[in-house]
Amino acid sequence: MFVTFEGVDGSGKSTQARLLAEGLRADGREVVLTREPGGTSLGEDVRDLLLHGERIAPWAEAALFAAARAQLVDEVVRPALARGADVVCDRYLDSSLAYQGIARGLGVERVLELNLLVTSGLLPDRTFLIQVSPTEAAERRHDEPDRIEREGAAFAEEVDRAYRELARVFAQRVVVVDGTRNPQDIAETIRGRVRDLS
Ligand code: ADP
Ligand code: TYD
Repeated sequence: MFVTFEGVDGSGKSTQARLLAEGLRADGREVVLTREPGGTSLGEDVRDLLLHGERIAPWAEAALFAAARAQLVDEVVRPALARGADVVCDRYLDSSLAYQGIARGLGVERVLELNLLVTSGLLPDRTFLIQVSPTEAAERRHDEPDRIEREGAAFAEEVDRAYRELARVFAQRVVVVDGTRNPQDIAETIRGRVRDLS
């Protein structure tokens, strides 16, 4: 199965992706844990451009995220799924829908169309949206802000609203999880929801 994690920066996605991968491995499953943007050599180069570069035009930004995603799907995700492994990914196309489609205003449908094209229509079996207020998420972060984090509080609020909207639109696929509890409790809730899938 293909499971993705979404949420504002600092919401606890990476922590939960790692805990889910560990839990599945403990059950004897093969798990590929990866992240976006990145996860491949090309993707990590694109990540560098996106997070540490100068101003990037909105559609250039959407196209670069899509390019990194196309490579990840082709090189990592599809081969892993084809051999029967589970794939756990920290961010996937919902990040583009929230950040580029809604917060940057490019339009969800157009950004979705681009992303379905470059992934040959690969959608996750389940997406966990880790819900933490942007203020609390910002307080959890201690590293240097990247180019997108430097957009500031209003942009983060917009991303938060965007994710809530996406959870309504894709209610069959997206599970909203309260991210304010302790990491182990959240991981247990997620593990329970994933068991329903496998
Ligand atoms: P993200 O991948 O969404 O940016 P991380 O998993 O890297 O988030 O977590 C951001 C910070 O918050 C880290 O310092 C992490 O240890 C901490 N953290 C993660 N989950 C929780 C939680 N449930 N409660 C409190 N702090 C958390
Ligand atoms: P990253 O450090 O991976 O996220 P986090 O801080 O949550 O651990 O940074 C990725 C940044 O790129 C983050 O601000 C979200 C943004 N992003 C997009 O705008 N669109 C996308 O499609 C993806 C995958 C990420």
